[in-house]
Amino acid sequence: MDSEKYFKKGELEKLSIEEAPKMVTSVPGPKAQKVLEESFQSESMARGAGRFPMVYAEGKGATSVDPDGNIFIDMSAGVAVNSVGRCNPRVIKAMQEQMTTLMHGGDMSNIKRTELAKKVSSVMPAGLRDNAITYFTQSGSAAVETAIKFIRKITGRSQIVAFHGAYHGIWLGGNSLTTGNQYRRGYGPFMPDVIHVPYPYCYRCCFGLEYPSCNLQCAHYVDYVLNTPYTGAYDVAAVFVEAQQGESGYVPAPPGYLEIVKKACEKNGALYVSDEVQAGAGRTGKMWAIEHYDVEPDMITWGKGMGGDVPMAGLSMRKDLAEQVEDLSQPNTWAANATLCAACLENIEIITENDRALVNRAASLGEEISEQLREGAKDIKNIGEVRGKGLMIGIELVEDKESRNPLGADATINTLINLLNRGVISFPCGRYGNVIRYMPPLILSKEHATKAVDIFLETAKEI
Ligand SMILES: Cc1ncc(COP(=O)(O)O)c(C=O)c1O
Repeated sequence: MDSEKYFKKGELEKLSIEEAPKMVTSVPGPKAQKVLEESFQSESMARGAGRFPMVYAEGKGATSVDPDGNIFIDMSAGVAVNSVGRCNPRVIKAMQEQMTTLMHGGDMSNIKRTELAKKVSSVMPAGLRDNAITYFTQSGSAAVETAIKFIRKITGRSQIVAFHGAYHGIWLGGNSLTTGNQYRRGYGPFMPDVIHVPYPYCYRCCFGLEYPSCNLQCAHYVDYVLNTPYTGAYDVAAVFVEAQQGESGYVPAPPGYLEIVKKACEKNGALYVSDEVQAGAGRTGKMWAIEHYDVEPDMITWGKGMGGDVPMAGLSMRKDLAEQVEDLSQPNTWAANATLCAACLENIEIITENDRALVNRAASLGEEISEQLREGAKDIKNIGEVRGKGLMIGIELVEDKESRNPLGADATINTLINLLNRGVISFPCGRYGNVIRYMPPLILSKEHATKAVDIFLETAKEI
């Protein structure tokens, strides 16, 4: 693996602030503290970051600056969003040009949204490539909601199968597929007709088995549920799957798993929806995480890294399926703002140009980072597992390697705050809140990547 062969020296580096990390105060510094206090008084803390003490003032590539002038290496990319870096000059230029021409087109056709729909179709995985029809939304949650509505119309069926550990968004449909207690407790009742089945979280296998000697029992269980009478799955419209789960701990499906799930769908007549909102757009070292497997999805929900710095998301589905959705059955005022489409188009262009150099580099750099983490983790008792594909890396923290007891969520947050004070921004995830996720911009320089890992390993020794 050699992540440095894809770009000329300096080409990616210049997008970020080279001197990062550079700390001038502890975090939060006085200016950040003032913003936080005002924010806590004026905004709902139901937001994703809650009261986490980071305040953004500027973003440049894979680095960010807070109001006190602290410069951070940003391993979060705004939750897997800024794929080509924050404020990428090419994206800014594309937006500026479009802003002086047309911004809001309503739900009518505009030149940019049509261009974007064609572009999205051209970068889809096998089965959908150049054969995809897209419905645009502004968020991953809305894309999932759309998928739920459309699959019911298309199949005439109502049930949906989703997985333990799944995260599919915050609206009623997506939240009903999502399993995290904090998103559900007290907010029910949820949408009926959802069946949850185990996801292959091999580090904590719910059957107590080990891959590969388990023979993928969990995948065969999904087949059993879908294709056996009296399991309650009598009318399944679709199975929603993340090829690498995000929210619940950056857990990739092991080889062979999704192939069995897909065959089970085919036997049943259910559609296969690959939710690529977090794992898509090149993050895992392929354009789509599903491309690591021999599976052709019927639909893809996408968002986050596709828009880069702007909210663009969508549902892309096979043409023959799209034809079964009634015209005029789902209007969306803000669906495809021309400026956002222009930004998204440039973003996709940067990700895919030169034979997907940035995507291939994500595979290499991800390997290098994971290797550095695994090597360093050998004598750090609190690092249980380093896993994931490309630049979607999860570091599971434990009390000790033998027991595998999850490190407490509070200890994990303290670790993140210690990291922040050393100039590295990262986010937690995981069923127990004990996984640190690396989801940096794909343009992260090798130097910043190495520094961020060194700082993490130093910090992890102090847990
Ligand atoms: C797999 C997956 N689906 C859907 C969503 C929801 O996307 P959004 O936050 O843009 O609504 C997310 C967000 O993290 C996600 O990871």
